[in-house]
Amino acid sequence: MLGCGVGLRSEHYDHVTRTWPAMDWFEVISENYMDSGGRPLQILEQVRQRYPVALHGVSLSIGSTDPLDVRYLARLKALADRIDPAIVSDHLCWTGVEGEQLHDLLPLPFTQEAVRHVAERVEQVQTALKRRMLLENVSAYVTVRDADMPEWAFVRAVAERAGCGILLDLNNIYINAYNHQFDPSEYLRAVPGHLVGQFHLAGHTVREGFLFDTHNRPVIDEVWALYREALRRYGPVTTLIEWDADLPPFERLAEEAATARAVARDVLGHPVPPAQAVSPVRQT
Ligand SMILES: [Fe+2]
Repeated sequence: MLGCGVGLRSEHYDHVTRTWPAMDWFEVISENYMDSGGRPLQILEQVRQRYPVALHGVSLSIGSTDPLDVRYLARLKALADRIDPAIVSDHLCWTGVEGEQLHDLLPLPFTQEAVRHVAERVEQVQTALKRRMLLENVSAYVTVRDADMPEWAFVRAVAERAGCGILLDLNNIYINAYNHQFDPSEYLRAVPGHLVGQFHLAGHTVREGFLFDTHNRPVIDEVWALYREALRRYGPVTTLIEWDADLPPFERLAEEAATARAVARDVLGHPVPPAQAVSPVRQT
């Protein structure tokens, strides 16, 4: 349990490296540091000397039928070896096919065939990285009619078969529950705690009766309520506030993380992270 952190975004580089704010940990988008030997990587190394860091990818495309991109994996492994992240994660989705990158996190069909397909590829990734990874449940705006199982059973089946963990995005569960009309509590009940390695919390947008995962505003009360429910079910879980668009000053992000910390403390009855688990400075 790393505590409650925020995403590190380039708009906040100056603030973070000038003030070294109190923050439990940072998550970064892996791809932003894989191709750059310049300032972003230098800043990430400085941040890593002071805080735990998670690498969160957006283009692994674990569900695609294209072969896994071995060059991408090699670059990700090089970054992970350099940064020594606490967590490496990506999304349970596909982002392109036949060499085309669509720059979107597209949902998979919830079928046994897709479970087998993704699990095989996760094993390849984990072998290449020599690490266990987490896969995140995504928000989805379409459903595939010929599903063998509901989303929560699919997420669980992939993780169990592949031997990976789940990054449970509670805002995505809330969005999908609203748009596709299921009970978010049923989702939480179906996913066992030993598979859950991290939570995401984020804000979303309401448009024409549907919810969209826009990461551009505070977490809403209903998602905080789902966070409470998840903490009651799973106990302490490393938590991240995602805010990517209409980015506020760093202090506002830190307030959201502080709210998450206060909610966790209230539900769990003790502060997070536990004092003995705090080790923000890596010895190099
Ligand atoms: Fe997320």
